[in-house]
Amino acid sequence: MTSPQNSSASSRFPKGRRAFPHRDLIGISSLERHEILFLLAEAERYVGFNRQAAKRSDELAGLTIINAFFENSTRTLLSFEIAGKRLGADVVNMYAAQSSVKKGETLIDTAVTLNAMKADAIVIRHGSSGAVGLIASKVDCPVLNAGDGQHEHPTQALLDALALRHKLRERGSDTEDFTGLTVTICGDILHSRVARSNILSLQALGASVRLCAPPALMPAGIERMGAETFHDFDTALQGADVVMMLRLQNERMDGQYIPSPREYRHLYGLTPERLALAKPDAIVMHPGPMNRGVEIESAVVDMDDRAIITSQVEMGVAIRMACLDVLTRRSRGVPGWSDGEWV
Ligand code: NCD
Repeated sequence: MTSPQNSSASSRFPKGRRAFPHRDLIGISSLERHEILFLLAEAERYVGFNRQAAKRSDELAGLTIINAFFENSTRTLLSFEIAGKRLGADVVNMYAAQSSVKKGETLIDTAVTLNAMKADAIVIRHGSSGAVGLIASKVDCPVLNAGDGQHEHPTQALLDALALRHKLRERGSDTEDFTGLTVTICGDILHSRVARSNILSLQALGASVRLCAPPALMPAGIERMGAETFHDFDTALQGADVVMMLRLQNERMDGQYIPSPREYRHLYGLTPERLALAKPDAIVMHPGPMNRGVEIESAVVDMDDRAIITSQVEMGVAIRMACLDVLTRRSRGVPGWSDGEWV
């Protein structure tokens, strides 16, 4: 069995820079380009490891990781749990629906409680933007944001970048980043933390980002993030190298944002005919959960040479292993790590 342990991270990190100076991973906004590339490189070694039959290491043996999920999740919760277990940690899941949050406990009291249990890392998903950062300020261990309201979902953007890079390399490119690529993100941009984290990470890696949504689902002032905005999907697709589709986040809507699902599908649904407006071999992405027949047709999802939606899920485990590994290095006293410096 190949061990995932042999990291040559020191050689990959620019000389004279602190390796990974952050205690927490709250958003892509706090990461520099070389830090994003560092996390992708660290995740790369887990991709092969995860494809082996036996995939258990003891890198995080003895550590306790708490996944505190105040919102529903399938992919993110499961992949963080699998990631922690594959690294040998003890992983405990807290579902808010079954917790004292339902009995009126404040977020800060919940944070203090989790802290008292001496977790070595806490992974949090919460419905309010900023809640994960608030918890991070109250606890002593690394905190990883698994999605906070409409704010950020950093591990999603990292796994998207890893899946995209894998696809480009499979097609013969040796690219490290996305310089020269145009990525069109279409859907409910207003409510999407995935869109926000991806705008930041794709741009940091050199891509041009186009955003497409109906007027009511396009956040005011979003162009300030450097992306071009469109309401017409056909125009937004012209010449795109990558098309990232997002679902309508109905659970965050308290009113009428779209005329009807039928009209939405007509104007913003990705069909094979519409995909033909993008580059001939354009790559299709979706963070899930998908609503087939609304924002994306099954005929597109099933295009094995174009859609990388399953690969995104696979890369999610590797990315989360890398993030848990990197953020716990300081407390594990990993050789070479001294006060944030590789020596
Ligand atoms: C996304 C999320 O929760 O922000 N899903 C995910 O993490 N894979 C997107 C969504 O819920 O639509």
